[in-house]
Amino acid sequence: MTYLSRNCGSFADKRVADWSERHSVGLGPLDHDHNLIFIALGTLENELKFLRRGPTLSKTVKFLSHLTSRHFTREEHLMESLAYPRAREHREQHGLLTAWMEAVLPSLGENRRPSYDDAVVAYLADWWSLHNERADKEYGRFADKRSQEAMTILDEFALTA
Ligand SMILES: [Fe+2]
Ligand SMILES: [Fe+2]
Repeated sequence: MTYLSRNCGSFADKRVADWSERHSVGLGPLDHDHNLIFIALGTLENELKFLRRGPTLSKTVKFLSHLTSRHFTREEHLMESLAYPRAREHREQHGLLTAWMEAVLPSLGENRRPSYDDAVVAYLADWWSLHNERADKEYGRFADKRSQEAMTILDEFALTA
């Protein structure tokens, strides 16, 4: 047993899942986004668990916020370009999480209460799992019928973003 696992818990009881094929929405660039976001969430969880308010926490939070915002923009552009019928509802879910992150993340690690940080990480991990499982996979099934067109939209958007 290491010093960290004896004193700060272990990697085994982590809340954030690793991205795997079961999370796939069938579109490589968006799967890559999800994979990166899961990695950033795992990094945030480990930082809070092992370092508390360590010197890199604000960078990790900024990185997670940047990845999230970039990904939401990309998904929303695709859904609107394909005239996905539930685009507005999906965009609203993104908006709610963005507002929640802006309100909550700046105080992470400040309260010196591990239960607060743990609850924040648990909420984010659950939100992404549920959103991926329901809302994201739903547009994935819709886009699957026009996968070539969807990939062209994503490729062209990557060049302008
Ligand atoms: Fe997504
Ligand atoms: Fe989404």
